[in-house]
Amino acid sequence: MIEHSIKRLTMEEFKKFSRLIHAESGIYLKDTKLTLLSNRLRKRLQSLQLKEFSDYYDYLQGLEGESKKKEYEKLLDVVSTNETYFFRNERHFEAFSNYCLPDLAKKKKDRTLRIWSAACSTGEEPYTIAICLLEKIHLFQGWDIKIIATDIAPSVLDFGRLGEYSGRRIEKVPQDLLKKYFIRKKNDPEVFIVRDELKKFVEFGYLNFFKSEFPKDIDVIFCRNVMIYFDRDHQKRLISEFSKIINKDGFLFIGHSETLHSISEDFVYKKVLESPVYVPNLERK
Ligand SMILES: C[S@@+](CC[C@H](N)C(=O)[O-])C[C@H]1O[C@@H](n2cnc3c(N)ncnc32)[C@H](O)[C@@H]1O
Repeated sequence: MIEHSIKRLTMEEFKKFSRLIHAESGIYLKDTKLTLLSNRLRKRLQSLQLKEFSDYYDYLQGLEGESKKKEYEKLLDVVSTNETYFFRNERHFEAFSNYCLPDLAKKKKDRTLRIWSAACSTGEEPYTIAICLLEKIHLFQGWDIKIIATDIAPSVLDFGRLGEYSGRRIEKVPQDLLKKYFIRKKNDPEVFIVRDELKKFVEFGYLNFFKSEFPKDIDVIFCRNVMIYFDRDHQKRLISEFSKIINKDGFLFIGHSETLHSISEDFVYKKVLESPVYVPNLERK
């Protein structure tokens, strides 16, 4: 089998791939990630029936146009880490539901609401946002509401569109909300399918932070647990772009292990109901 005859990834090859991945996506791989990268790239080598990592590197270099775009998407798809689950960092959603949403309902006169789940992975984050929103929908009667869910990995977007979840992914969904917003899959009762009333709010789409155009006029950005994969320069670039497209009364949520300290002064830290939230620095807006 080809699988067994793939040669090991050398440090020199690792460095070539990590430079390329970094240039395409901002994802920075330390030398300690050699085994991880080798395991992930193996999938592409197997599909293309290649025996050496250097063959795959040369193959990537030789591509052009649409086939280049497609293969680079597949490369970043296998390389990205997509760990996520419903109600991850629950306090964020308490702050979002009980402070941000009522505040926006009061302040936004144009009656539009745009929430961006930036790096949404398999969809648990945007659907959690949709659940919180539907629980407060009485505040937004007649509003034009959209949850934009984007990621660099096409396969996770397909997963999200399908909206079928089980096990650890849904462990933190309170029972009453599970009953209200999911239906059990026929013939597979362990699997829960997101109801259409949630799905209709969420629009999934491909977006690479460093190559694609951003959506505009956003009220709330969730960009959690992705900046950790970027080097400081890319973190700065990303936050600077966010500051251009967020509305003045907006909110930004980042992961618990992430910080804007010495990254950006375009946002200021605000503690909202025990949760760290960032708001635009109006002196710079
Ligand atoms: C660990 S998941 C985070 C999912 C979710 N936000 C959460 O906190 O649970 C990180 C996601 O970032 C995406 N990602 C990595 N680099 C990206 C880039 N340059 N542009 C857009 N998304 C990216 C990955 O594909 C992955 O799905």
